[in-house]
Formats: sequence, C-alpha cells, structure tokens
Amino acid sequence: MEYDASSPKSPGMIPSHDRPVLRLDSPLCRGQAHGKVILLGEHAVVYGAPAVALSVPDAICRAVALPSRLGGSGLMRFRFRSASTSAVQVTEQAQPELSALVDDLLERAADRHVQAVDIVMRSSFPAGRGLGSSAACARAAAEALNVLLDLSLSPAGIHDVVQRAENRTHGRASGIDTYATGSPGLLVLDKGRTRTPAVGRQAWVVIADSGTVSSTRQAVEMLRTRFVQAPGSRRAFLEASEALTVNGLHALAEGDLNRLGMRLNDAHALLQPLGLVTHAVQELIDAALAAGALGAKMTGGGLGGCAIALTDTAARADAVAARLRRNGAEHIWRVPLVREEHRS
Ligand code: PMV
Repeated sequence: MEYDASSPKSPGMIPSHDRPVLRLDSPLCRGQAHGKVILLGEHAVVYGAPAVALSVPDAICRAVALPSRLGGSGLMRFRFRSASTSAVQVTEQAQPELSALVDDLLERAADRHVQAVDIVMRSSFPAGRGLGSSAACARAAAEALNVLLDLSLSPAGIHDVVQRAENRTHGRASGIDTYATGSPGLLVLDKGRTRTPAVGRQAWVVIADSGTVSSTRQAVEMLRTRFVQAPGSRRAFLEASEALTVNGLHALAEGDLNRLGMRLNDAHALLQPLGLVTHAVQELIDAALAAGALGAKMTGGGLGGCAIALTDTAARADAVAARLRRNGAEHIWRVPLVREEHRS
C-alpha cells in the first residue's frame, strides 16, 4: 500500500514498485513543519544582529518515514513532491544534506531495528524562495525519523539535527530558519537567543513569489566576500540593520504600523545596493507599494525568491495580493501577524 503524504489519514491504494511502499504492519511515522519569512534583519543575523521572522502556516512540508523493504542502510528511497501554482515538481533524488541527516539519526538509534528507511515528502510551497523550505523539510524528516527510530529527541535535540542540516545546506546558517520553521507566529533571534516580540496592533503580511530560484548559500557568500573587500562595510551594514530592526520592533510593539512599514522600506534600501534584489522581486515590491502597502521589501537570502509587503487591514492585504498577482506573482500567501487562536 502506497502512502500519500498529502492525505494524513488515508493511505491510498495504488500499488507501485518504484515508490516507497508502506506495508500494513509498518510503523507510520510522520513529521511536519511550516515555512517562514524574514520581516527584518536577514543577512545581518548571520553575524549576530537581531532579525524578526514570521511563520507561514499555509506553507507546509510533511514527511513520512518508514523502514525500507530494500534492505541496506541509510536512505534507500525518497520521493519529494513540491507545489507552486505554475508546476508540481517531483524528485526522487534526495539532497545530500537530507541523506546525511538520515545517516546521523540512524547512527544514534541504539536499537538498530531499522537500518534503512524510505522517506516520502510533500511540500505545499516551492524550495529556493527564501521561505525556509530546506529547514522545514529537514525538520519534518527529523520528526518522522525521531518516531520511527524511537530516538526520544527533545525539541532542542530536533533543533540541533535541523541546524546541522542547515549548516550543510547554507554553509553558515544563523539558525533563524531552524527556529522559525518549528515555532508559530513571530520570533526574534538576537545573539543566539529567541523571544516572541510584542505586537500592539494586528497587521497582515502579503508574500509574493517571483517564481525565480534563490540561493541563500550564494547570497551569504557574496556578502562575505564583499565585506572582506571593503573594510568597514560589514560593521556599517550590521549597525544600520540592527538600528532599523530595533526601531521596527518598537513600532510593532506600539502598533505604529506606518513606522513599521517605513522600517521595511529602509531594510530593503539597505539590502538592495548589495546586489541581492532581482528585477522580478523589485517589480513586485513597487507594485505592492503602488497598491497601498505600508512597506515592502525582499525577504530571506535574495538573488530571487519572494517579496513581502505590510498592510494594516485584511481588505488592503487582498487588494495588494490582487495587484501582485496581476504583476506576475506565482504564488501569494497572506499571513496575519497574530493568528486568531493566539490572540489573548
Ligand atoms: O533561507 P533564506 O533564504 O530564507 O535565508 C535565511 C536568512 C539569511 O539571513 C540570509 C541566512 C541565515 O542563515 O540567516
């Protein structure tokens, strides 16, 4: 019986020999994680400056892990299906980081009752858009394997596994994606510590996918080279980023959305001259501002990926989303800063 990761309750009935197969007596072990966007502080956070992330609950990656019938050891069969509005991509070649994560967890399993695993994954959002896909997928897989291998990893243990995978993927990862893909709502990472920021007034973030793939590793390396070549530039960047992130957090706490929007614009103006913003992303930002967004910027590593825009009402978020769709956004997500179920 093949398992369809999109349908958590009901395994499908399609017999298949070239896909991971779930036997009726196999333990069914699932994991799940969501995507995220960075509101303020990307890149600076790699060097310890503060950054603010927002989870994207509708961007979900699910994983199912099962003992492989093929024998051997490690990750034997893999199937990953990711969706965007324009295309559905299926790959059966696991990223080396994911294979390493599997090996890592198999080595930790004291009772080696399982030595080879198959993993089926399904993601509702595309990879390579600055939405934290690599961390979300690593987290979903780690959670599924935690159950399958009976590892009893704590949330901190899962965090370490995901962060190791992130460091392999991005070269040097700040950890913000690792944290944000495992916690709901808003999160601040500042000098290695996380906290939930105060929110004075509800607002909406509209996320628009330009449809172009970004490489966080390449972007982080590009900035590092730039900072080495221009002495003093790193310090100036970090000071400016920290100042506007701190000011943006005050505006958020005070419910001053106009000022928060201005800080988003400032953050974009700081990142844009570093060569991180593609034409397609800039067009989305311009369209969002023309449609009445309070502020807009690139998000994540850059060199492609998504734009984000801040709005003060759900109706304005809808209007901005409609404009972004007309301007070629491949996918749109609307996320309130505070979810209804988390409101006190
Ligand atoms: O994975 P992305 O593209 O969302 O970027 C993460 C944010 C960076 O600051 C660019 C890198 C990091 O590790 O914090």
